[in-house]
Amino acid sequence: MAARSVCVLGGSGFVGTHLAAALAREGWQVTVPTRNPAAAGHIAMIPSLTLVAADVHDPGQLGPLCAGRTAVVNLVGILNERGRDGRGFRRAHTELARKLVDACRSQRVDRLIQVSALGADAERGPSHYLRSKGRAERLIREESGPDLRWTIFQPSVIFGPGDDFVNRFAGLLRALPVLPLARPRARFAPVWVGDVVTAIMRALADDATAGETYELCGPEVLTLRDIVAMVRGRLRLRRAIVGIPDFAARLQAAVFDFVPGKPFSTDNYRSLTVDSVCRSNGFARLGIRPQPLSALLPKYLS
Ligand SMILES: NC(=O)c1ccc[n+]([C@@H]2O[C@H](COP(=O)([O-])OP(=O)(O)OC[C@H]3O[C@@H](n4cnc5c(N)ncnc54)[C@H](OP(=O)(O)O)[C@@H]3O)[C@@H](O)[C@H]2O)c1
Repeated sequence: MAARSVCVLGGSGFVGTHLAAALAREGWQVTVPTRNPAAAGHIAMIPSLTLVAADVHDPGQLGPLCAGRTAVVNLVGILNERGRDGRGFRRAHTELARKLVDACRSQRVDRLIQVSALGADAERGPSHYLRSKGRAERLIREESGPDLRWTIFQPSVIFGPGDDFVNRFAGLLRALPVLPLARPRARFAPVWVGDVVTAIMRALADDATAGETYELCGPEVLTLRDIVAMVRGRLRLRRAIVGIPDFAARLQAAVFDFVPGKPFSTDNYRSLTVDSVCRSNGFARLGIRPQPLSALLPKYLS
Protein backbone atom coordinates (compact mmCIF):
# COMPACT_ATOMS: atom_id res chain seq x y z
CA MET A 1 0.00 0.00 0.00
CA ALA A 2 1.35 3.47 -0.91
CA ALA A 3 2.32 5.57 2.13
CA ARG A 4 -0.32 8.05 3.18
CA SER A 5 0.92 11.55 2.59
CA VAL A 6 -0.27 14.77 4.21
CA CYS A 7 0.69 18.41 3.82
CA VAL A 8 0.25 20.39 7.04
CA LEU A 9 0.05 24.16 6.51
CA GLY A 10 1.09 25.89 9.73
CA GLY A 11 2.64 22.60 10.84
CA SER A 12 5.60 24.33 12.49
CA GLY A 13 3.42 25.96 15.18
CA PHE A 14 2.18 24.78 18.56
CA VAL A 15 -0.58 22.41 17.41
CA GLY A 16 1.35 21.50 14.25
CA THR A 17 4.37 20.29 16.19
CA HIS A 18 2.22 17.88 18.23
CA LEU A 19 0.22 16.83 15.16
CA ALA A 20 3.28 16.24 12.98
CA ALA A 21 4.80 13.94 15.60
CA ALA A 22 1.53 11.96 15.90
CA LEU A 23 1.18 11.67 12.11
CA ALA A 24 4.75 10.43 11.76
CA ARG A 25 4.16 7.86 14.53
CA GLU A 26 1.13 6.58 12.58
CA GLY A 27 3.20 6.12 9.44
CA TRP A 28 2.17 9.22 7.48
CA GLN A 29 4.62 11.00 5.19
CA VAL A 30 4.35 14.60 6.43
CA THR A 31 5.26 17.74 4.50
CA VAL A 32 5.34 21.06 6.34
CA PRO A 33 5.77 24.27 4.36
CA THR A 34 7.23 27.13 6.36
CA ARG A 35 8.20 30.74 5.78
CA ASN A 36 11.20 30.27 8.01
CA PRO A 37 12.90 26.84 8.01
CA ALA A 38 15.57 28.02 10.49
CA ALA A 39 12.86 28.69 13.09
CA ALA A 40 11.17 25.34 12.41
CA GLY A 41 14.20 23.22 13.25
CA HIS A 42 12.32 21.64 16.18
CA ILE A 43 10.22 19.55 13.79
CA ALA A 44 12.97 18.86 11.26
CA MET A 45 14.17 15.80 13.18
CA ILE A 46 10.76 14.08 13.10
CA PRO A 47 11.20 10.96 10.97
CA SER A 48 9.28 10.96 7.68
CA LEU A 49 8.76 14.74 7.89
CA THR A 50 9.89 17.04 5.11
CA LEU A 51 10.25 20.73 5.87
CA VAL A 52 9.88 22.95 2.80
CA ALA A 53 10.62 26.66 2.55
CA ALA A 54 7.53 27.98 0.80
CA ASP A 55 5.05 30.82 0.51
CA VAL A 56 1.67 29.10 0.82
CA HIS A 57 -0.07 32.28 -0.36
CA ASP A 58 1.48 31.83 -3.80
CA PRO A 59 -0.82 29.51 -5.79
CA GLY A 60 2.17 28.52 -7.91
CA GLN A 61 3.78 27.03 -4.79
CA LEU A 62 0.61 25.86 -3.04
CA GLY A 63 -0.53 23.65 -5.94
CA PRO A 64 2.62 21.50 -6.02
CA LEU A 65 2.59 21.28 -2.19
CA CYS A 66 -0.91 19.76 -2.35
CA ALA A 67 -0.32 17.55 -5.40
CA GLY A 68 -0.51 13.82 -4.72
CA ARG A 69 -1.45 14.16 -1.05
CA THR A 70 -3.92 11.88 0.69
CA ALA A 71 -4.98 14.93 2.72
CA VAL A 72 -4.17 18.54 3.52
CA VAL A 73 -4.49 20.04 7.02
CA ASN A 74 -4.68 23.81 7.44
CA LEU A 75 -3.39 25.11 10.79
CA VAL A 76 -2.39 28.58 9.62
CA GLY A 77 -3.73 31.15 12.04
CA ILE A 78 -2.77 34.54 13.43
CA LEU A 79 -4.00 36.30 16.55
CA ASN A 80 -2.72 39.68 15.43
CA GLU A 81 -2.07 41.42 12.16
CA ARG A 82 0.54 44.02 11.37
CA GLY A 83 -2.00 46.76 10.57
CA ARG A 84 -5.40 47.34 12.14
CA ASP A 85 -7.89 47.19 9.26
CA GLY A 86 -8.40 43.42 9.09
CA ARG A 87 -6.46 42.92 5.87
CA GLY A 88 -3.85 40.70 7.56
CA PHE A 89 -6.55 38.45 9.04
CA ARG A 90 -8.38 38.21 5.71
CA ARG A 91 -5.18 37.22 3.93
CA ALA A 92 -4.02 34.64 6.51
CA HIS A 93 -7.44 33.07 7.09
CA THR A 94 -10.01 33.74 4.36
CA GLU A 95 -7.92 34.26 1.24
CA LEU A 96 -5.65 31.35 2.11
CA ALA A 97 -8.70 29.09 2.54
CA ARG A 98 -9.88 30.09 -0.94
CA LYS A 99 -6.48 29.36 -2.45
CA LEU A 100 -6.33 26.06 -0.59
CA VAL A 101 -9.72 24.92 -1.86
CA ASP A 102 -8.67 25.86 -5.40
CA ALA A 103 -5.34 24.05 -5.03
CA CYS A 104 -6.96 20.89 -3.61
CA ARG A 105 -9.57 20.84 -6.36
CA SER A 106 -7.15 21.41 -9.20
CA GLN A 107 -4.72 18.81 -7.79
CA ARG A 108 -7.55 16.34 -7.11
CA VAL A 109 -6.86 16.15 -3.37
CA ASP A 110 -10.06 14.85 -1.82
CA ARG A 111 -9.54 15.46 1.92
CA LEU A 112 -9.16 18.81 3.69
CA ILE A 113 -9.04 19.42 7.45
CA GLN A 114 -9.50 23.02 8.54
CA VAL A 115 -8.70 24.13 12.08
CA SER A 116 -10.83 27.18 12.78
CA ALA A 117 -11.78 28.63 16.18
CA LEU A 118 -14.75 28.47 18.53
CA GLY A 119 -16.94 31.54 17.94
CA ALA A 120 -15.86 31.92 14.30
CA ASP A 121 -18.71 33.71 12.58
CA ALA A 122 -18.56 35.31 9.13
CA GLU A 123 -21.17 37.96 9.96
CA ARG A 124 -21.54 38.33 13.71
CA GLY A 125 -17.99 37.66 14.90
CA PRO A 126 -16.99 40.67 17.02
CA SER A 127 -13.35 40.71 15.82
CA HIS A 128 -11.48 40.50 12.54
CA TYR A 129 -10.04 37.22 13.86
CA LEU A 130 -13.43 35.56 14.36
CA ARG A 131 -15.02 36.99 11.20
CA SER A 132 -12.12 36.01 8.94
CA LYS A 133 -12.12 32.50 10.44
CA GLY A 134 -15.88 32.31 9.90
CA ARG A 135 -15.55 33.41 6.27
CA ALA A 136 -12.86 30.79 5.71
CA GLU A 137 -15.26 28.14 7.04
CA ARG A 138 -18.13 29.37 4.85
CA LEU A 139 -15.94 29.34 1.80
CA ILE A 140 -14.78 25.77 2.46
CA ARG A 141 -18.36 24.58 2.98
CA GLU A 142 -19.72 26.35 -0.10
CA GLU A 143 -16.90 25.99 -2.60
CA SER A 144 -15.28 22.63 -1.97
CA GLY A 145 -17.69 20.83 -4.31
CA PRO A 146 -18.58 17.14 -4.12
CA ASP A 147 -15.05 15.76 -4.58
CA LEU A 148 -13.25 17.64 -1.81
CA ARG A 149 -14.38 16.25 1.53
CA TRP A 150 -13.74 18.70 4.36
CA THR A 151 -13.90 18.58 8.14
CA ILE A 152 -13.79 21.73 10.28
CA PHE A 153 -12.68 21.91 13.91
CA GLN A 154 -13.54 24.85 16.18
CA PRO A 155 -11.46 24.57 19.36
CA SER A 156 -11.71 26.72 22.46
CA VAL A 157 -8.32 27.83 23.76
CA ILE A 158 -5.75 25.03 23.41
CA PHE A 159 -3.22 24.22 26.14
CA GLY A 160 -0.20 21.96 26.34
CA PRO A 161 3.59 22.01 26.11
CA GLY A 162 4.63 24.97 23.97
CA ASP A 163 1.28 26.78 24.16
CA ASP A 164 1.03 30.54 23.99
CA PHE A 165 -1.91 31.03 26.33
CA VAL A 166 -0.85 29.40 29.62
CA ASN A 167 2.83 30.18 29.06
CA ARG A 168 2.10 33.84 28.35
CA PHE A 169 0.24 34.24 31.66
CA ALA A 170 2.97 32.26 33.44
CA GLY A 171 5.54 34.72 32.09
CA LEU A 172 3.46 37.73 33.14
CA LEU A 173 2.88 36.31 36.61
CA ARG A 174 6.59 35.69 37.07
CA ALA A 175 7.45 39.22 35.89
CA LEU A 176 4.76 41.40 37.50
CA PRO A 177 3.81 41.89 41.16
CA VAL A 178 0.22 42.69 40.11
CA LEU A 179 -1.41 41.29 36.97
CA PRO A 180 -4.05 43.57 35.40
CA LEU A 181 -6.50 41.31 33.56
CA ALA A 182 -8.85 42.40 30.77
CA ARG A 183 -12.20 40.58 30.50
CA PRO A 184 -11.59 38.48 33.66
CA ARG A 185 -15.06 36.95 33.45
CA ALA A 186 -14.68 35.76 29.83
CA ARG A 187 -15.33 32.02 29.84
CA PHE A 188 -13.24 29.31 28.18
CA ALA A 189 -13.26 25.52 28.01
CA PRO A 190 -9.51 24.92 27.66
CA VAL A 191 -8.77 21.96 25.46
CA TRP A 192 -5.70 19.69 25.68
CA VAL A 193 -3.53 19.77 22.56
CA GLY A 194 -3.31 15.97 22.62
CA ASP A 195 -7.11 15.77 22.37
CA VAL A 196 -7.16 18.19 19.41
CA VAL A 197 -4.52 16.04 17.70
CA THR A 198 -6.54 12.89 18.38
CA ALA A 199 -9.61 14.56 16.86
CA ILE A 200 -7.70 15.48 13.70
CA MET A 201 -6.23 11.96 13.43
CA ARG A 202 -9.71 10.50 13.83
CA ALA A 203 -11.04 12.72 11.07
CA LEU A 204 -8.25 11.56 8.77
CA ALA A 205 -9.11 7.94 9.55
CA ASP A 206 -12.90 8.14 9.46
CA ASP A 207 -14.82 9.19 6.34
CA ALA A 208 -17.96 9.73 8.41
CA THR A 209 -16.40 12.96 9.68
CA ALA A 210 -16.46 14.48 6.16
CA GLY A 211 -18.82 17.44 5.86
CA GLU A 212 -18.94 17.82 9.65
CA THR A 213 -18.00 20.72 11.93
CA TYR A 214 -16.83 19.87 15.44
CA GLU A 215 -16.66 22.31 18.32
CA LEU A 216 -13.85 21.16 20.63
CA CYS A 217 -13.99 21.94 24.34
CA GLY A 218 -12.26 20.59 27.40
CA PRO A 219 -14.45 19.32 30.27
CA GLU A 220 -13.94 22.40 32.50
CA VAL A 221 -15.58 25.78 31.86
CA LEU A 222 -13.40 28.40 33.51
CA THR A 223 -13.25 32.18 33.57
CA LEU A 224 -10.06 33.85 32.47
CA ARG A 225 -9.49 34.79 36.11
CA ASP A 226 -9.90 31.11 37.16
CA ILE A 227 -7.33 30.04 34.59
CA VAL A 228 -4.77 32.69 35.58
CA ALA A 229 -5.32 31.84 39.25
CA MET A 230 -4.75 28.16 38.44
CA VAL A 231 -1.47 29.03 36.72
CA ARG A 232 -0.48 31.22 39.69
CA GLY A 233 -1.22 28.33 42.07
CA ARG A 234 0.82 25.93 39.99
CA LEU A 235 3.78 28.35 40.01
CA ARG A 236 3.33 28.89 43.76
CA LEU A 237 3.47 32.66 43.31
CA ARG A 238 1.85 35.27 45.51
CA ARG A 239 0.59 37.76 42.96
CA ALA A 240 -2.54 39.87 42.84
CA ILE A 241 -4.78 39.33 39.80
CA VAL A 242 -6.79 42.51 39.27
CA GLY A 243 -9.67 42.47 36.81
CA ILE A 244 -9.81 45.76 34.94
CA PRO A 245 -13.05 47.36 33.77
CA ASP A 246 -13.88 47.27 30.08
CA PHE A 247 -13.17 50.94 29.41
CA ALA A 248 -9.65 50.53 30.83
CA ALA A 249 -9.14 47.25 28.94
CA ARG A 250 -10.11 48.96 25.68
CA LEU A 251 -7.67 51.75 26.44
CA GLN A 252 -4.93 49.26 27.28
CA ALA A 253 -5.60 47.41 24.01
CA ALA A 254 -5.57 50.66 22.01
CA VAL A 255 -2.13 51.48 23.43
CA PHE A 256 -0.78 47.96 22.87
CA ASP A 257 -2.03 48.13 19.24
CA PHE A 258 1.04 50.30 18.66
CA VAL A 259 3.53 48.20 20.64
CA PRO A 260 5.70 45.97 18.41
CA GLY A 261 4.48 42.36 18.60
CA LYS A 262 1.11 43.53 20.00
CA PRO A 263 1.06 41.73 23.38
CA PHE A 264 -2.68 42.58 23.49
CA SER A 265 -4.76 44.31 20.82
CA THR A 266 -8.16 45.82 20.18
CA ASP A 267 -8.95 42.78 18.06
CA ASN A 268 -7.97 40.43 20.94
CA TYR A 269 -10.20 42.49 23.25
CA ARG A 270 -13.13 42.12 20.84
CA SER A 271 -12.60 38.35 20.58
CA LEU A 272 -12.81 38.21 24.39
CA THR A 273 -16.28 39.79 24.35
CA VAL A 274 -17.78 36.41 23.42
CA ASP A 275 -17.37 33.30 25.58
CA SER A 276 -15.30 30.51 24.07
CA VAL A 277 -17.49 27.62 25.23
CA CYS A 278 -19.21 24.86 23.25
CA ARG A 279 -22.89 24.63 22.47
CA SER A 280 -22.36 20.97 21.57
CA ASN A 281 -18.99 19.44 22.31
CA GLY A 282 -17.73 17.59 19.22
CA PHE A 283 -15.51 15.28 21.28
CA ALA A 284 -18.56 13.24 22.27
CA ARG A 285 -19.42 12.62 18.59
CA LEU A 286 -15.82 11.62 17.95
CA GLY A 287 -15.77 9.20 20.90
CA ILE A 288 -12.99 11.12 22.66
CA ARG A 289 -13.03 11.94 26.38
CA PRO A 290 -11.24 15.30 26.70
CA GLN A 291 -8.85 15.94 29.56
CA PRO A 292 -9.10 18.80 32.07
CA LEU A 293 -6.63 21.67 32.45
CA SER A 294 -6.56 21.23 36.22
CA ALA A 295 -5.22 17.67 35.87
CA LEU A 296 -2.69 18.33 33.12
CA LEU A 297 -1.28 21.74 34.05
CA PRO A 298 1.08 20.24 36.68
CA LYS A 299 2.45 17.85 34.07
CA TYR A 300 3.85 20.56 31.82
CA LEU A 301 4.12 23.79 33.79
CA SER A 302 6.60 24.14 36.64
N1 LIG B 1 -3.64 27.78 20.13
C1 LIG B 1 -4.93 27.99 20.44
O1 LIG B 1 -5.28 28.22 21.63
C2 LIG B 1 -5.98 27.96 19.36
C3 LIG B 1 -7.34 28.06 19.73
C4 LIG B 1 -8.31 28.03 18.74
C5 LIG B 1 -7.94 27.89 17.41
N2 LIG B 1 -6.62 27.80 17.07
C6 LIG B 1 -6.25 27.66 15.67
O2 LIG B 1 -5.48 26.49 15.52
C7 LIG B 1 -4.52 26.67 14.48
C8 LIG B 1 -3.13 26.32 15.02
O3 LIG B 1 -2.87 27.16 16.14
P1 LIG B 1 -1.42 27.24 16.80
O4 LIG B 1 -1.61 27.69 18.20
O5 LIG B 1 -0.66 25.99 16.53
O6 LIG B 1 -0.78 28.45 15.96
P2 LIG B 1 0.74 28.89 15.88
O7 LIG B 1 1.56 28.20 16.92
O8 LIG B 1 0.77 30.37 15.85
O9 LIG B 1 1.21 28.32 14.45
C9 LIG B 1 0.63 28.73 13.26
C10 LIG B 1 1.60 28.49 12.13
O10 LIG B 1 1.04 29.10 10.97
C11 LIG B 1 2.06 29.68 10.18
N3 LIG B 1 1.65 31.05 9.86
C12 LIG B 1 1.36 32.03 10.72
N4 LIG B 1 1.01 33.16 10.05
C13 LIG B 1 1.11 32.84 8.74
C14 LIG B 1 0.88 33.57 7.56
N5 LIG B 1 0.52 34.85 7.58
N6 LIG B 1 1.07 32.94 6.38
C15 LIG B 1 1.46 31.66 6.35
N7 LIG B 1 1.70 30.91 7.43
C16 LIG B 1 1.53 31.50 8.60
C17 LIG B 1 3.34 29.70 10.99
O11 LIG B 1 4.27 28.88 10.31
P3 LIG B 1 5.71 29.43 9.78
O12 LIG B 1 6.08 30.59 10.67
O13 LIG B 1 6.60 28.25 9.96
O14 LIG B 1 5.50 29.81 8.38
C18 LIG B 1 2.95 29.13 12.35
O15 LIG B 1 3.87 28.19 12.81
C19 LIG B 1 -4.64 28.13 14.05
O16 LIG B 1 -5.43 28.20 12.89
C20 LIG B 1 -5.36 28.80 15.20
O17 LIG B 1 -6.12 29.92 14.78
C21 LIG B 1 -5.63 27.83 18.02
